[in-house]
Amino acid sequence: MMNENIENTEFLLNWHIEAGVDETIAEMPCNFFESDKIVKPKSDIKTTVQTTSQQIETNRQNVVSDSTNLSIQNANKLVENIEKVEDLENIVNNFDGCGLKVTAKNTVFGEGNTEAKILIIGEAPGADEDRIGRPFVGKSGILLDKMLKSIELDRSNVYISNTIYWRPPGNRTPTSSEISICLPFVKKLVEIMKPEIIITLGGSATQTILNTNETISKLRGRWIDYSDSENNKTEVIATFHPSYLLRNPANKKKSWADLLKIKKKISS
Ligand code: URA
Repeated sequence: MMNENIENTEFLLNWHIEAGVDETIAEMPCNFFESDKIVKPKSDIKTTVQTTSQQIETNRQNVVSDSTNLSIQNANKLVENIEKVEDLENIVNNFDGCGLKVTAKNTVFGEGNTEAKILIIGEAPGADEDRIGRPFVGKSGILLDKMLKSIELDRSNVYISNTIYWRPPGNRTPTSSEISICLPFVKKLVEIMKPEIIITLGGSATQTILNTNETISKLRGRWIDYSDSENNKTEVIATFHPSYLLRNPANKKKSWADLLKIKKKISS
């Protein structure tokens, strides 16, 4: 009987080897011909593995938030006594606290008239902006220039910047920690410029500036009060991002309505 079992086992092993099986992948060996005898891995092994990976993830998140907090603190400190846009740009150019800088070719701070009464804030540089080092120079920039021209504006009477100064790889949406790290610089820009109007382009920039989770569809096209950290008042109007309009041209009509509101405000 014993011999018969060994022979059977040997036969089965050889059969598997000839069939190309060269490793077992279950945690425990298991005879599938006797399904009621399947040996299940002990649940405490699984629990231990899960607990360990949860712990690693928690630790990772703590490390990430610690380094994000450090970068935010550092950014806030750096801008404390800054009074000129050019100096702020210098600080941002030399800032290493945002991981996006590692993969970006250029820092894209802003462009236009630093004395302008209108500040335009987009999301983040794209591939063209990253390559050239200027905001809104790609396809969406061409549309933005056309939008501005339609209400008699151009880069000589507005200042254009972003909520993020380095291109997120693959143009992905910036993470909340990347946004938080750049926010002290964005806020400082508003504080220095004291614009009469802030135009935010798209959901991400609008939510960042207004500190809300409301969608762009709900926020666009209306004047919203904004106070900077020194309690200077300004008004924000959100509109669709030009790159969104390129993908959804049907919404250009709504965007045109927003532009007319801006034109009316400027000429009043
Ligand atoms: N999109 C943005 O939001 N900003 C740029 O600078 C370019 C494209």
